[in-house]
Amino acid sequence: MAINIKTPEQIEGIRKSSQLAAQTLKYMEQFVKPGITTLELDQIIEKYVREYGASPATKGYRGYKHSSCISPNDVVCHGVPNSYVLQDGDILNIDVTTILNGFYGDTCKMYYVGKPSEYAQKLVETTKECLRLGMAECQPGARLGNVGYAISEHAHKNGYSVVYEFCGHGVGLKFHEEPDVPHIAEKNSGPILKEGMVFTIEPMINAGKARCKVDRKDGWTARTIDGRLSAQFEHTIVITSDGCEALTDVYGDF
Ligand code: MF3
Ligand code: CO
Ligand code: CO
Repeated sequence: MAINIKTPEQIEGIRKSSQLAAQTLKYMEQFVKPGITTLELDQIIEKYVREYGASPATKGYRGYKHSSCISPNDVVCHGVPNSYVLQDGDILNIDVTTILNGFYGDTCKMYYVGKPSEYAQKLVETTKECLRLGMAECQPGARLGNVGYAISEHAHKNGYSVVYEFCGHGVGLKFHEEPDVPHIAEKNSGPILKEGMVFTIEPMINAGKARCKVDRKDGWTARTIDGRLSAQFEHTIVITSDGCEALTDVYGDF
């Protein structure tokens, strides 16, 4: 099984979709306030994405019914939008994947609801740094494992743990393609990166233990096993001739 190399035309298509996904996360900033439910946020996302002629990739994906994943506090990822009302001091992740003209763009970021604790802010800022350090390892000839190595070193140095049960992934022509992108890995392990590969890096960093448990009722929402906070940022990146470009980095805010 090979990791497919995207053509310049395909990369252009993935770029447009990625830009829309990033724009959607930016648009949502005004709505992330105490008092709104995560289901209301999801409905706003669906309407916005469709207005731009795209569709939300999660809807109908393996039985998932919503247009985004919305993950507050101890939710690691795949938070199913529901009647949860945002509270002052919450941290929140919104993850959006758009399909535009058949091309997929996947990104997520953290939001502060009102004013979160210093403790929460430090976790969020460190997770953002982890994503950037992972991206800095990406260039033709490098081993993919170095991404996870850089991320996990930085997380551990700060006293945090790295989620290993969910990975980044190839993306672009489908939602999830090869390769898996682990966020904790051995140095100089894994496939060799080549120009034209497109994949996500999306570290989930936990304040406590790394382990997750999936909600038995909705079958998706993954929480930390110990109830402590988790944070995540995600970019869709393409390997270029001398490094990488984050196709979802439209605003330079993470
Ligand atoms: N967007 C998520 C990712 O980054 C995947 C969500 S799949 C879903 O890989 F089915 F949970 F929505
Ligand atoms: Co992803
Ligand atoms: Co995503």
